Amino acid sequence: MSLLLTLIAIAVSLLLFAARRRMGYWQRRGIPHDVPHPFFGNIKDWSKTRHIAKIFRDYYLKYKGSDYPFAGFFFFFTRTAVITDLELVKRVMIKDFNHFENRGVFYNEIDDPLSATLFSIEGQKWRHLRHKLTPTFTSGKMKHMFPIVVKVGEEMEKVFSSKINSGASSGGQVLEVVDLVARYTADVIGNCAFGLDCNSLHNPQADFVTVGKRAITEHAYGGLLDIFLFGFPKLSRRLRLKLNVQDVEDFYTKIVRDTIDYRLKTKEKRNDFMDSLIEMYQKEQAGNKEDGLSFNELLAQAFIFFVAGFETSSTTMGFALYELARHQDVQDKLRAEINSVLGKHNNEFTYEGVKEMKYLEQVVMETLRKYPVLAHLTRMTETDFAPEDPKNFIGKGTIVVIPALGIHYDPDIYPEPEKFKPERFTEEAIAARPSCTWLPFGEGPRNCIGLRFGLMQTCVGLAYLIRGYKISVAPQTEIPIQINVKSILLSALNGIHLNVERISK
Ligand code: HEM
Repeated sequence: MSLLLTLIAIAVSLLLFAARRRMGYWQRRGIPHDVPHPFFGNIKDWSKTRHIAKIFRDYYLKYKGSDYPFAGFFFFFTRTAVITDLELVKRVMIKDFNHFENRGVFYNEIDDPLSATLFSIEGQKWRHLRHKLTPTFTSGKMKHMFPIVVKVGEEMEKVFSSKINSGASSGGQVLEVVDLVARYTADVIGNCAFGLDCNSLHNPQADFVTVGKRAITEHAYGGLLDIFLFGFPKLSRRLRLKLNVQDVEDFYTKIVRDTIDYRLKTKEKRNDFMDSLIEMYQKEQAGNKEDGLSFNELLAQAFIFFVAGFETSSTTMGFALYELARHQDVQDKLRAEINSVLGKHNNEFTYEGVKEMKYLEQVVMETLRKYPVLAHLTRMTETDFAPEDPKNFIGKGTIVVIPALGIHYDPDIYPEPEKFKPERFTEEAIAARPSCTWLPFGEGPRNCIGLRFGLMQTCVGLAYLIRGYKISVAPQTEIPIQINVKSILLSALNGIHLNVERISK
């Protein structure tokens, strides 16, 4: 018994020694950093009091301007460098991208096919897949999908209208807008990525959306094992661990299988994401492995288009409505633009018309500055970076964080950063700022592939709502909005409640 206790004591001491040594890395290198906790590293208050992106924002603002272009950080046991200098941001994301092409997140294509998405896969496989998928997102393809987005926008308008009709007061109705716009983006992406009329606008319990939400929030093991999966992705893969829950995987596999069978049988063409993916699948089936996609590859990409495209855009729309409710002058100016452009286009929503709505774009860009949904970007060093230069040297295997929220709230870049000012995004104002200072879609070869689509569906949805309704703050509106600190994305903890009043035509 005493031998066993001695062995346990030795093992615990060795573990503590290894943890201390690991956590002493930045100290030994003389890189500025906060002293890490032996187990949590520098994220002790994460998911309790501070959102992860705010932890990185505060770190950026604290260490910006030090003698080094980054500060040392530990995400639990993971060695992390938080970039605090725009020149180094540019090198990581663009100029020296070949050192930083992966994110270092978990995927396991064999045991968990849904996890092997464009977002997570690495190296040559990522390069090849990105190259194959890029033509799916050209402006020509966006134009083809535009009518689907408009059709769902019309439905959203009807749902808002029915909610207001059912309300008692004549001065409008207080609505929780995030849920409503999330049903709009879910229907748009469900349509374009899976070819489904999932109709969550009219049926909030639509399986497609509830399972989609579970895919984001529920993981196969949860809790401590999640930390292991994200902290040690390669080891987790070797141990054949999974991220996604089995019934979520089964659900999406069936939908995709049925959609492919249906489209191949009926030869129906919808010009959407699924059509492009099926074209690549057919190439693979015909033996062209180089340009083709296997069933599992297709499945994972349809899945990530939904997961990455649905909540990001709806959250952006929710925050935009919140800011517009608080800035009636901006809202009036925006409505005037929307009406004037629509007037020139036969009062119809056209692809060209929406492109002409420059002020709308500025409003969306300023919203994404204040609320970049994915507010910290990550890359991983595959090889030692700049070993000859002690200031910039980042060792192999380090996770690099680009604190987008910090850069967006840096008063040297955006004076009075708390204020909502769409005029920050006129062409001249953008040209006057350094590059890599607006990062809601990331930057460089691994930026958001769905940028055009995300902007298109956000702009169309907002244009429909602002044309038809006056949005204003209500007693129930939370000011400032409480952010959900448990989520990786920036989102409102209690939704966004606003007064919505129909504008008489
Ligand atoms: C407002 C809407 C959206 C926002 C704010 C957004 C934001 C982002 C961000 C910040 C990244 C990481 C970029 C980086 O690391 O440099 C990303 C990656 C990605 N996004 Fe989006 N996104 C949006 C819409 C969409 C849509 C509509 C789709 C697909 C239909 C999509 C698919 C993806 C994919 C596949 C990646 C991974 C790209 C790669 O690693 O090659 N996103 N997105």
